[in-house]
Amino acid sequence: MNTLNSSLIDRLPQKTNQKTLLICFLAALAGLLFGLDMGVIAGALPFLAQEFSLTSHQQEIVVSVMMLGATVGAICTGPMSTRFGRKKSLLLSAILFVAGSIGCAFAYSLEILVISRWLLGIAVGVASFTAPLYLSEIAPERIRGSMISLYQLMITIGILAAFLSDTAFSASGNWRWMLGIITFPALILFFGVLTLPESPRWLAMKGHTVNAEKVLILLRSNDAEAKRELNEIRESIKEKQKGWQLFRGNHNFRRSVYLGVLLQFMQQFTGMTVIMYYAPKIFEIAGFATTSEQMWGTVIAGLTNVLATFIAIGLVDRWGRKPILKLGFCVMAICMGILSYMFYTGITTPAEQYFSVSILLVFITGFAMSAGPLIWVLCSEIQPLSGRDFGITCSTSANWIANMIIGATFLTLIDSIGSANTFALYGLLNIGCLILTLLFIPETKNISLERIEHNLMKGQPLRLIGHS
Ligand code: BGC
Repeated sequence: MNTLNSSLIDRLPQKTNQKTLLICFLAALAGLLFGLDMGVIAGALPFLAQEFSLTSHQQEIVVSVMMLGATVGAICTGPMSTRFGRKKSLLLSAILFVAGSIGCAFAYSLEILVISRWLLGIAVGVASFTAPLYLSEIAPERIRGSMISLYQLMITIGILAAFLSDTAFSASGNWRWMLGIITFPALILFFGVLTLPESPRWLAMKGHTVNAEKVLILLRSNDAEAKRELNEIRESIKEKQKGWQLFRGNHNFRRSVYLGVLLQFMQQFTGMTVIMYYAPKIFEIAGFATTSEQMWGTVIAGLTNVLATFIAIGLVDRWGRKPILKLGFCVMAICMGILSYMFYTGITTPAEQYFSVSILLVFITGFAMSAGPLIWVLCSEIQPLSGRDFGITCSTSANWIANMIIGATFLTLIDSIGSANTFALYGLLNIGCLILTLLFIPETKNISLERIEHNLMKGQPLRLIGHS
């Protein structure tokens, strides 16, 4: 955190450092809850299965009902956050996080558990839509990438914290605490969000120009900068069309919506989510037989995920989005290829076991320093303001749909085509992502959202919409 803060502070004008960082940090707490809820179920599931005598199918329902909720949450939040604002949407997600966590902790039947997990899913969907959007609208452009990466950092810290607390509570088998402890960060999010200002872009869109200006003056280094940004926002919202109408009537907007969906599918098809959901299983395939080895392996995977996200935060606004993405996809493709080869020839000696784990960790690093944060960054940057909510609704929902597809097919793939072929397939998908990056992905470093919108709407090829 210190490295993050000092590198950001260097680039922030003094007057606004603390305030802007605090606001962004509070909004990014939504990511922590996202990660906690995603990570927690792996450890709790065996105990839930025992307590409620769950069949495999019922276990799948307990896991996947959250992604279903997240898809619904992401779809409904677009219209909601246009109408009621970003702040109220974040508040709603905090309330649902609290309600869902308490519901899970006190669940005395499968039905209550499923409903509570579904509520948590909606919370995750609302948060995964609103937090990056809010961050992109509130952060000054020169640190916008780092700020949205901060959100991803919080997701990874949440996943790691969940893995650690699962490991700690698994000794006593207390699944109620595993699930219930999430109530506390959810309450912090709730009270934190109460102190946040509304997004200046949303305020301007709703005609509350005076309030928008007040927020910008609070956040930017000087009044001139605030006024310049307000003028840019006003320019970009002159075009009144919105969401679905814009999608139907405007070819250029359709391109940015498709690009957002493509980006999220690319993120999921790297195979990272599979590793997050099934890490213990993968350690088992790599020859680690005991549960404790598998749990600690999982914690190390979670830790690597957190640490490598710092690389992205440090580099995203210096190197730019595209070079980091290209590097990440290359690293991930190579690692998947090596793992596939090792599964094909068989992992027998301890040296081979540890080598395969190091390759897995390099893969996680490749993801966490690139596609993990950068896809959220790009998705929040490429949509024009009048269609931003609709565009991000589509891309965030695509994340959850792809997440469901990946989560629901991994074990079947392993059973039907084998581990070696499954990992080879993911290797090929990463090569596909690299090619798509070269062809379609724009560089958006240091370019204002208004400029990106201008280029998109003028019909520039997608990969050039970030040119000044
Ligand atoms: C992705 C998740 C993934 C997580 C890992 C997020 O950005 O959307 O699917 O599991 O990163 O850190």
